[in-house]
Parts: sequence; structure tokens; C-alpha cells
Amino acid sequence: MTFNNVNLYNDNTLFRVQATGVSSFSEKFSMRPAQQNPRVTRRRFLGLGMAGLVSTLAADCLWFEPQALELTQLQLPSGFAGAPVRILQISDLHLSTFNGYLAKVAEQATGLRPDIIVLTGDYLEEQRNIRGVLDFFRQLKAQYGIYAVQGNWEYWSRLEGENLRRHFARAGVQLLINERVDVRIGAHHLSILGLDYPSGSDHLKTLMQLSVPDRFNLLLSHVPAFSHQYLEAHIGLVLCGHTHGGQVRLPWVPPFYLPRYAGRFVSGLYHVSAHHTPLYVNRGVGTSVLPIRFLCRPELTLFTLGEPAAQT
Ligand SMILES: [Fe+2]
Repeated sequence: MTFNNVNLYNDNTLFRVQATGVSSFSEKFSMRPAQQNPRVTRRRFLGLGMAGLVSTLAADCLWFEPQALELTQLQLPSGFAGAPVRILQISDLHLSTFNGYLAKVAEQATGLRPDIIVLTGDYLEEQRNIRGVLDFFRQLKAQYGIYAVQGNWEYWSRLEGENLRRHFARAGVQLLINERVDVRIGAHHLSILGLDYPSGSDHLKTLMQLSVPDRFNLLLSHVPAFSHQYLEAHIGLVLCGHTHGGQVRLPWVPPFYLPRYAGRFVSGLYHVSAHHTPLYVNRGVGTSVLPIRFLCRPELTLFTLGEPAAQT
């Protein structure tokens, strides 16, 4: 009995050990790979998907959107009779080299056949890039002239004032430093008022004294946030840049960063002062700080002043 018991015990033990061994073998070499394959495949699939998404977003931010130029067109009443006047705004080049993208920007700008081109600051970030800026300017054409104001980067790069005025003049661009210039286009008498960075109240008041009420007065200011309460009622339109539209945006979320003197202005058309003066903020052509854009494409803006043509 004892022997048998021992034998039985040993047999059972042997059996249990063998059974456990069979089970372990199955899990290791048969069952486990069959159960884990889907998990590994799913993980790899998700990993590849994430890598693809990140690559697509990076390509969009770095290469596609910074050069996906958009044209915005606005029609505004001028209050004067005569053929409409076409004013093209270009802003915030932040040029490092005059590359193929900027050549296309210039080609598209000139192809719109504007009467006037206005430039609202931040052309370069280093003095040595002035040559490229002038090359860009020389590609622009507007029958009644090209007018510009300075931005913060002209001051930060120490290429501003009379020195910059001389450079710009060589490329046919008239720099307005708290100055007024009058332009006659057919029946239209326009004044362009150039408010210098950072659009201080004293300079604005001086410009308002220089302005003429019975004209269409176009005010250029690099920054959109200044003392709008000093704007006279006869200022017909204010054009600004500076914000880049936020440059990197997410839907329904305010911009992550806006520079000083941006105020509440991001991009597009606003109305300011007690006179409800239209003020437009252009998203710019270039980029600053980071060479990326997301959900915020670069922009040219074409304003047509005058009544729209009657439909027949
Ligand atoms: Fe700026």
C-alpha cells in the first residue's frame, strides 16, 4: 500500500508536473504569440499613424503654410465719385533672402495691377538683408506709387530713419515717417499718412493736423494698438500689420502669442474710435521668431475704394 501510495503520489506528481509543463509550453510557444500578435500589430499601427500625423503637421507648419499665400479682397466706400481705386497692402516680409516664394509674392502683387501699393513694416531682421528687400521692392509695380512705414524690426536691426529712406528710394519706395503724401488718381484725391513705429499719440496728433478733411485719408501704421481716440472723422481707413495673425493658431482658441502693441487686434477688419473708422490688420507675408505657420496663412490684401460697378 505504502509503495502504491508512493507510486500513486509520484505518478500524480509526475502527471501534475507534466501537465503544468505542457501548459507552460503551450503558453510560451503556442498560445501566447497567437494572443499577442493583434496587440503588437495595433500598437505598431497606432505608432505609425502618430508618426505620420506628426510628419504631416510638421510639413504643413514648416513648408506648406508659410508659403500658402492668400489674397483677401475688400470693397470699401470712398465717398467720392469716379472709378474705383485699387490699393494693395503687403506687410511683415521678415526677409532673409529674396527666394522663389517672395518672387511669386511680388509677381502676384504686380499681377493684381494695383493703383497703389502700401507696405506696413517689418521688412527685415538684419541689416545685411536690405539688398534682398530692395530686390523684392524692384519687382513691385503700381502706377501711382509704393509707400511704406517702418516697423519695430527696422529699429531693432538699426536700419531706420533717413538711412532706410535712402535705401527705399533707390528701389522706388517712398518711406513716410510721420508724413503725408498726396496722390491724385483720376477723380480721387487721396492722402496717405505714414505713422511711424510705435505710433505714439504725439505723432498721431501731428498727423491729424496735417490731414485734409475733403480727401480720402489713408493712415498706415505698423502696429494696430494706438490711441484711436485721436483719429479724426475724415480718416477713411487704417492699415496695419505686426501681429502675423498670431502665426500659429488653433480653432476657437486665442493666439498663443501676440507682440507688444498688438492690443486686442489679431487679423482682419475692425472698427475703432467714436467715428467707427475701419482698421485692417494684415497677417503678413513672412514669419518671425519661429519659421512656422499653422491655420494662419500669409496674406496679400487688395482694397477697392469706391462704389461697386452697377449690375446690368
Ligand atoms: Fe512687427
